[in-house]
Amino acid sequence: TQYIGLIPAAGSGSRMGVEVPKQYLDIAGHPMIYYAVRAMVTSPLITAVYVVLAADDSWWAGYNWCEFGDKLQVLRCGGATRAESVTNGLAAMSTDGKDWVLVHDAARPCLTIELIARLIEAVGDTEIGGLLAIPVADTLKRASGVHVAQTESRDGLWQAQTPQMFRHDLLQQALSNNSDFVPTDEASAVEALGHHPLLVAADSSNFKVTYPNDLRMARLILEQEIS
Ligand code: C5P
Repeated sequence: TQYIGLIPAAGSGSRMGVEVPKQYLDIAGHPMIYYAVRAMVTSPLITAVYVVLAADDSWWAGYNWCEFGDKLQVLRCGGATRAESVTNGLAAMSTDGKDWVLVHDAARPCLTIELIARLIEAVGDTEIGGLLAIPVADTLKRASGVHVAQTESRDGLWQAQTPQMFRHDLLQQALSNNSDFVPTDEASAVEALGHHPLLVAADSSNFKVTYPNDLRMARLILEQEIS
């Protein structure tokens, strides 16, 4: 059984409010996606890493990826949604269907090889698979317009992160099963088949860069590690 990384990177990052696609914004001298690729390729447990780009991506080629060697494979088969990009990537990669696929957002640059190892260790002998996540820390308000309608209990609520790890065949089946809803992560597609993926406690540093302030945080964290 192999562990294969899959990084969907075909999004436009419209919520950042800038022209450069989010995954190519600069962090400490590299495009954001460099860090997700680096964590996946550097992990000794992972045997291959596939990046899914938009067919018309003109940014990737502007950087030098040689340091990652053959372990890094590029697929230009991005779709209109993240789920579509992942589906296309699963179809294009070489695998036997029993391999585990770890799907990771290009927009989570602070992933570490320790977190990858923790996920594989916890999920590798489960039937279904699982994901990194953290318990919700903030108090949650349900809104009615701009006012609080009520406070929701955060008991038992977790924030999903990535990587999310499932066997190739199950993930492919889960993503093709959902004609009427577009899952925003792999786990919810698998859940729709009636399965219960494992939650693996991660770290808040593995946050997703969505808004400009997230980018500032990622820069602070990743600039520090440069020696
Ligand atoms: O936009 P958001 O942060 O939710 O995107 C999560 C990940 O999915 C990013 O790595 C983004 O590039 C990717 N994505 C994709 N294809 C799309 C939309 C998003 O690969 N059509």
